[in-house]
Amino acid sequence: MQKRGTFISLEGIDGSGKTTLKENLLALMAGNYHVIGIREPGGTVISEKIRDMLLDVHNDGIIGKTEALLYAAARSQLVEEIIRPALIQGKIIIADRYMDSTIAYQGYGRGLDIEFLEDLNRLCTGGLKPDLTLLLDIDPEAGQSRRNQDIPDRLEKEGFEFQARIRAGYLKLCEKDPSRIKVLDASQTAEQLIREAMGMIEAALS
Ligand code: TMP
Repeated sequence: MQKRGTFISLEGIDGSGKTTLKENLLALMAGNYHVIGIREPGGTVISEKIRDMLLDVHNDGIIGKTEALLYAAARSQLVEEIIRPALIQGKIIIADRYMDSTIAYQGYGRGLDIEFLEDLNRLCTGGLKPDLTLLLDIDPEAGQSRRNQDIPDRLEKEGFEFQARIRAGYLKLCEKDPSRIKVLDASQTAEQLIREAMGMIEAALS
């Protein structure tokens, strides 16, 4: 790949505030940078169809490995159709979830083999990793209370213990790769969170 943009992913358990942070960052950066926002699973016509299948509460028969493969399929399409072209054009990408979600949710959450998932991630991304990952860390109870008004999707219905395992998994990922994954305290105010996130992004861009 020739001239590159910058790839930033946001990660965290359900209710950690990634989506709000993404919207705030996009609004803040739009005037000064060529920045685009994407979400996972989703972000392309095909990937959004896979998302509907994955989050549909009626699909409770999906087994763990199928689930991992579907997330990987959605990611593969997004990487080739949107992420690589945008990076070649020198854009900044802010992704609401990426490959670490698979390790945290299907690995630490569901208990699938981590090495299998790492291989799967390499396969579906061609080895493309974010330059910077912001992990929004929050207590699962606090995350759940933020989501209380929403109708839970298939993954959110898994409950509190599932979210606790995922949170612990994310923190392990951060220990393994501290230069890429930075932890933010997601219980602070939206304003503080944006300020801290923006500081980390500017450091990564300079
Ligand atoms: P969202 O609600 O943050 O948009 O994400 C959809 C759900 O999919 C969320 O519960 C996390 C889950 N997920 C995985 O289990 N594995 C993955 O690889 C991704 C990208 C998301």
